[in-house]
Amino acid sequence: MNEESLTRAAQMLRAGDVVAFPTETVYGLGANALDGDAVKKIYRAKGRPAHNPLIVHVTSIDQARELVADWPQQAEKLAAAFWPGPISLVLRRNPARQIPDIVTAGGDTIAIRLPQHPVARKLIELSGCPLAAPSANASNRISPTQANHVLASLGGRIPLVLDGGGTNAGIESTVVDLTGDVARILRPGSVTALDIRKVLDAKVTEKASDKRPETLKSPGQLEVHYAPVTPLWLFGYGDIDGIRSGIEQLSAQGKVAIVAISESVNSACGITVAMPADASGYARELYRVLHDLDSRGLTTILWELPPDDTEWTGVRDRLSRAGKPFV
Ligand code: TXA
Ligand code: MG
Repeated sequence: MNEESLTRAAQMLRAGDVVAFPTETVYGLGANALDGDAVKKIYRAKGRPAHNPLIVHVTSIDQARELVADWPQQAEKLAAAFWPGPISLVLRRNPARQIPDIVTAGGDTIAIRLPQHPVARKLIELSGCPLAAPSANASNRISPTQANHVLASLGGRIPLVLDGGGTNAGIESTVVDLTGDVARILRPGSVTALDIRKVLDAKVTEKASDKRPETLKSPGQLEVHYAPVTPLWLFGYGDIDGIRSGIEQLSAQGKVAIVAISESVNSACGITVAMPADASGYARELYRVLHDLDSRGLTTILWELPPDDTEWTGVRDRLSRAGKPFV
């Protein structure tokens, strides 16, 4: 990424435009978080409902503190341990309200993240303002981990995409609510509940992965989210033998892909994709494989869930929102 394109992007942000840029999780669609009209363009380009608040990206803890009413001990500890990095902290919003209501969907809390990706950091620095940025995809579609994913989803609707290659973490940041006495994970990610518990040395609650209206507290947790257009069915880890007859039936009707970690999957089926056996490698590949398979005109994608362990929580969460159980 050359200095010139970054400077131009920063100028566009200052002038009230939106710019897509890489972060270490997924590509974001950024706008000056202090400019309500600029932020409106994000909602318009994505077709995002106004009740879903945005994460504000900063380059320093000082910049984060300016946006909040208070900076609790827990925020200090988590920022020291994980920032810059893939964790967003939900805090009480500064009542002076320099951040317009459209960013927080009118709520009295604000989600803040200090990203690690050099392009993201440089862009916030050069633009001189905090950047509101959701994932750079049309609402409810798969998040982009490459510049071409952004173009496929939003091309023609946004003026610029900064290409920083493939992202590293691959799934969106962990979102942690610190407005109560006990830290609460609203969206799991590559920073796990265990990681957070260790740093806080305190209890951490995890929002059950149910789909009841209470979860609207973080609307990114709505059931249909991160979804491909191709029907996606999920089966349990190591359960391939249990669904063989189903696979045969589906294969007779159309083109099927099977995605799995287990080697046993090397079946007679058309396309098989072997996923990495480690959680971070898997997360890095997840959306790329989803985007790729979704562009192939398949009838069905069958996907093996990874093991039900803490380190896999983020990946399992995204998959459970992208597909339905194959029974
Ligand atoms: O990794 C990421 O977080 C990426 C990159 C671009 O930073 N961004 C991202 O943004 O995933 P988005 O808008 O796709 O998801 C933000 C999530 C949504 O589930 C939203 O509801 C939640 O964060 N959120 C934002 N502000 C919130 C708030 N004040 N309270 C609770 N949840 C909030
Ligand atoms: Mg998103």
